[in-house]
Amino acid sequence: MTTTQPLAAPLTATEDPADFAAALLSWMNAATVVLALDVGHRCGALEVVAERGPATSSELADGGSLAERQLREWLNLLTSAGVIHYDASTSRYCLPPAAAACLTGDSASNLAPATAGLAMLARHVGAVADTVRHGGGIPYEAYRPEFTGLMDEMNRARYDALLVDGYIAPVPGLVERLRAGVRVVDVGCGTGHAVNLLARAFPASHFTGYDLADDALDAARREAAAYALDNVRFERRDVTHLPATLEIDVALALDSIHDQAHPRHVLAGIRRVLPADGLFLMVDARASSQVENNIGTPMGPYVYGASLFHCMQVSLAADGEGLGTAWGIELAHELLAEAGFSRVEKFDAPPSDILNVIYACRP
Ligand SMILES: C[S@@+](CC[C@H](N)C(=O)[O-])C[C@H]1O[C@@H](n2cnc3c(N)ncnc32)[C@H](O)[C@@H]1O
Repeated sequence: MTTTQPLAAPLTATEDPADFAAALLSWMNAATVVLALDVGHRCGALEVVAERGPATSSELADGGSLAERQLREWLNLLTSAGVIHYDASTSRYCLPPAAAACLTGDSASNLAPATAGLAMLARHVGAVADTVRHGGGIPYEAYRPEFTGLMDEMNRARYDALLVDGYIAPVPGLVERLRAGVRVVDVGCGTGHAVNLLARAFPASHFTGYDLADDALDAARREAAAYALDNVRFERRDVTHLPATLEIDVALALDSIHDQAHPRHVLAGIRRVLPADGLFLMVDARASSQVENNIGTPMGPYVYGASLFHCMQVSLAADGEGLGTAWGIELAHELLAEAGFSRVEKFDAPPSDILNVIYACRP
């Protein structure tokens, strides 16, 4: 099955309202597909059709304990979009291998959890519109507990695949120091999977994860216990106020600076507690600080969307700066210099991670 035009044609470069309307409709189609993929991820239909297809809707429903009529509507939606292949002569549906590779399984290439993230953000459309009208923000609590699980699901496979080899290894000397044994903190650790992976990979080092969310910290501690780690702990702490007496060698911030209420305080606090040979590793969104440079980039709307629907909002709700997910590489360098980091090296994340940039920052 092929579509006659792309699901999401560019909205720019047209002066004819009819062309613009057609492009806009294609974006509405694409948004509908994203919601349907989230449905399929949640109820297991994506895995069922990937594993059991080609099969009729009845065969798929029987095999996966799904409801046939509803499943058929879902299959037809994705068939009309070209995601699922339908053989009209046998009434059988299948998920082609390329789609299955991107929508099922435990690897980082499974984008289905990210569709769930978008659907979660969409539930806040009314509240976001209110903030655009009246100002203010949306507090973190409005997104929990769903946010905690989703964040974990969206990032887990990426950290499994990239954390050590893709984010840590490119930084000169870091693997060696972690092997030898250093004290590491992770600010805004969420469910702690990254910290636990590092604690397991580098048993001579000691790790502390800080976050404000009790549900995330509970999950982090459970995983540390399951991994039988004795070199990691998790603490409820507002990282805006890191104690001046903290003794560390390395600090990490994985996707956790741009949604801080007071990111400048956090960065300055990290700089203050790092010794002269210390290192701050920040992984954050790949974007330019100038919107004109983000036009037409593969993830432009996604990054601004994460911001408008969550990251900027949680910061503003805490009377914060509202930096936003797309604060960008230029402003990141500015804030890191302002915090007192004199040497900042920027690395590209591995090609499979088009969303992030790595900053290795030294006093
Ligand atoms: C976008 S999530 C990233 C979580 C985790 N680092 C990851 O990559 O999955 C940001 C995290 O920062 C935490 N956070 C935000 N502001 C914080 C603060 N002032 N102190 C401690 N944690 C904070 C949030 O609770 C959330 O878990």
